[in-house]
Amino acid sequence: MSGASLDWLERLRGRFLVFDGPDGSGKSTQLSRFTACCRERGVPVTEVREPGGTPIGEQIRRVLLDPANAEMDVRCEMLLYMASRAQLVHERIDPALRDGHLVISDRFVSSTLAYQGTAGGLSSDEIRDVARVAVGARMPDLVVIFDVDEATSARRLSPLLDRMEQKGSPFHRRVRAGYLDQASQDPSRHLVVDASRDADTVFAALMKELAARVATLAPLSLRA
Ligand code: TMP
Repeated sequence: MSGASLDWLERLRGRFLVFDGPDGSGKSTQLSRFTACCRERGVPVTEVREPGGTPIGEQIRRVLLDPANAEMDVRCEMLLYMASRAQLVHERIDPALRDGHLVISDRFVSSTLAYQGTAGGLSSDEIRDVARVAVGARMPDLVVIFDVDEATSARRLSPLLDRMEQKGSPFHRRVRAGYLDQASQDPSRHLVVDASRDADTVFAALMKELAARVATLAPLSLRA
């Protein structure tokens, strides 16, 4: 990619992006490639992941993903994800945005809406209420959803599944539907990328579609 064609990356300073999608969507690989590209271009990037991203959050992550905690109730699960997120916003995301960094989070509230909401049975209103308590007004400028079919995502997962990955096919079908629902209900805040293709093709599509979307973002001073 030529230098000039990447000028749009400059417009991401001080923005908050989320990369999200079902397990096995390849979002984390795409996130590493994208952050490397931003850094080469001189755009300061803070990269975080959920659950985790802080010392407290990483302890919560271990509880959430431990297959020994199979009896965990979905409300407990949702609150633990939100607790990790509250700490992440306070300790990493807000300070980085104040410093003018582009912040990219691997998962955010969109994951809770898909996994504990559409797939897990909690209402999206309840989840949004708890999210307001956990993160206040700190919502992303754009959520990029890496959409992948079940067969492709299953092929990409390691055979050692964590507690969430062990939930089975019908659950994961609902997760995918949950993401697509979010995108169709609020198209201006979501970008869906077909992530079933090889990593180079997905990255090329991501860069093209994101460039078009970044051009339409409201100026930072005007955002809610
Ligand atoms: P990861 O594999 O992308 O690191 O995510 C950990 C698992 O946690 C993954 O299966 C998705 C799940 N998850 C939820 O169920 N709800 C959430 O709010 C988040 C952030 C992740």
